[in-house]
Amino acid sequence: MAGTATIPVATGANPTPTILVFDSGLGGLTVLEQVRRARPDAAYVYAADDAAFPYGRLDEAALVDRVLAVMDRLVALHRPDLVVIACNTASTLVLPALRQRFTIPLVGVVPPIKPAAEATRSRRISLLATPGTVARTYTHELIESYAAACAVTLVGAPNLAGFAEAELAGTPVDDARLSAEIAPCFSISDDGRRTDVVCLACTHYPLLLARFQALAPWPVLWIDPAPAIARRVTQLLGAPPRGMEHRAGSILGAFTGGAGLTEPLRASLALRDVTSVAVEAMPLGLQ
Ligand code: DGL
Repeated sequence: MAGTATIPVATGANPTPTILVFDSGLGGLTVLEQVRRARPDAAYVYAADDAAFPYGRLDEAALVDRVLAVMDRLVALHRPDLVVIACNTASTLVLPALRQRFTIPLVGVVPPIKPAAEATRSRRISLLATPGTVARTYTHELIESYAAACAVTLVGAPNLAGFAEAELAGTPVDDARLSAEIAPCFSISDDGRRTDVVCLACTHYPLLLARFQALAPWPVLWIDPAPAIARRVTQLLGAPPRGMEHRAGSILGAFTGGAGLTEPLRASLALRDVTSVAVEAMPLGLQ
């Protein structure tokens, strides 16, 4: 069981900050990409809790304990200046407990309901997420606060995060399986209004965006919250110092399991500049 003491971390104005981007697996790479555009000079640790993937199927108490335990280790090991919880499934549940535990700035990724409600014309939007995220009280409160005037279809896709991992590992699933996961996002009201906005409320899903666009029965706006996360990071850390705007900081990939770290996956990571990869073993049950 994770303890409850607050772990103090020096923040301060570090000219070359270390940013820890955390997800259950590879989805947070979509957030890392956007954050790096804003702060290319920072040093990055991309941490994937692949030993516990997928988070979407964990019950809430187990997920809180797991994320706290893993984050204790990662923060102690890497001493980040800022942490991005690049996972909707974790952020919609664990952020309050993380904020209680760490004094370090934390940025969470949550379903982009507000921009979706602002963008829709048909007032029919869909939230494509993990089964965990669609079940969260936090998600339902977001919808009540920002999209009360819309018909919102919640789609808890059981397999999509795994399909995104397979895509990066060079073993993509076929169109029929992908279509079956996204099909419930598309609906038409009795008076003929079609869904026109789909929230990508799992950081894995933008990895499949080109395929979603090709398979969608009609064009919709797909909203990825990652650019907004990058803006929040620069609000907190500032823009790169003068002269550092084009400096490429280091990226370390840290995996808690490492079982799926095959050569094709390493090549995929290298394409995203994650050339240095370490296994920091944290088997499920360590908490
Ligand atoms: N990438 C994660 C998210 O944004 C979830 C994937 C999983 O189920 O572990 O929700």
